[in-house]
Amino acid sequence: MNKLLVFLALCSAFIVLPTSGRVVCYFTSWTIYRPDHGKFSASNIDPNLCTHILYAFVGLREDGTVSVLDDWELTGLEEMAHLQAIKEQNPDLKLILSMGGWNEGSAKYSTVAGNPSLRQSLVDSVLAFNDQYGLDGFDLDWEYPCQRGGVDADKANFITLLGELKSALNARGQTLSAAVSGGIASCKLSYDIAAVAENLDMINVMVYDFHGAFEPFVGHYAPLYASSLDQTDEQKTLNVAAGIEYWLDQGAPASKINIGLGTYGRGFSLADAANTSLYAGTYGGSEAGPYTREMGVIGYNEVCELYSNWEYIWDDEQQVPHIVNGNQWIGFDDARSLQIKVEYANSKGLGGAMVWSLDTDDFSGICGGGKYPLLNTINQYLN
Ligand SMILES: *[C@@H]1O[C@H](CO)[C@@H](O)[C@H](O)[C@H]1NC(C)=O
Repeated sequence: MNKLLVFLALCSAFIVLPTSGRVVCYFTSWTIYRPDHGKFSASNIDPNLCTHILYAFVGLREDGTVSVLDDWELTGLEEMAHLQAIKEQNPDLKLILSMGGWNEGSAKYSTVAGNPSLRQSLVDSVLAFNDQYGLDGFDLDWEYPCQRGGVDADKANFITLLGELKSALNARGQTLSAAVSGGIASCKLSYDIAAVAENLDMINVMVYDFHGAFEPFVGHYAPLYASSLDQTDEQKTLNVAAGIEYWLDQGAPASKINIGLGTYGRGFSLADAANTSLYAGTYGGSEAGPYTREMGVIGYNEVCELYSNWEYIWDDEQQVPHIVNGNQWIGFDDARSLQIKVEYANSKGLGGAMVWSLDTDDFSGICGGGKYPLLNTINQYLN
């Protein structure tokens, strides 16, 4: 190597390495079934772009134990061996077992959290699972206490469960985190925020999915700020800044909060292709993408590979982009909006970022901006 190359190599080492904030990345085991460029497995993970990798998801059995019964989870557990190999390349990387998610619902969690012996089963089962697979912590994605089949007592029982998990994990040098709602109305139903914060090492605030095909009108899935087109008081709070500030105001320490960042978007089929405004009528989700294969949801990798010729509109008020093509409207995050969100997180002194999820960044660099353009942006700008 000549001197210039050595110099450049040293510079890039200094530019890339000194990230002190946490970058907590969800790895979703089911993405190995996606076709073509969309197929994502643990071998695609860059060991140096995340401080924590959260294996999503395992489920919960009625008896309080970790459930690994599904086919995809069995296949996914083979991926656990690949995750161990990734960790060998970065000994500081933490591997975390994540339980729950939207599809798991709330009822089983409510039952287990409300029963002391079932709570003990869960603690024991998590510790045994982590021992078996050499994991460094546990992440609970109960969506959500007191909702979707839960009961009012969940609010207190959630705290008790977290407290028992945290003392058992911390005694072994392991970490407890939870994915929590970033919607204020949902938070009021589910959480005693100060107590939740006290009983967690990291709080992954899901400040996304504020709008989507579950509503009959256009809205960005994760605007940083409110829009002047927001009408109701609730609409004005359905944004990243309002969600983060609510957690802070209610007593969560900034250092424990990881701001939730998406590598995806949500889209609509417009009722009238001529009206692309926020709150314009829709008749359902945008057409499914070839990799994520779900109406109304799209990966950044699909946007950059397949929709780069669509019209790109930047919303100055909300500080996020959307793209439009005919009757299709998709709001998403790109490097520009994620840089601004990370700078916002820095300004609030937050401890880091949580990323949902690795598989929809341009992880193989097929759009020409190098591998993982979004995750690299997050690492570059996070304090
Ligand atoms: C677009 O839809 C919004 C929401 O329904 C409405 O307020 C607005 O007037 C419409 N704009 C046009 C140009 O039709």
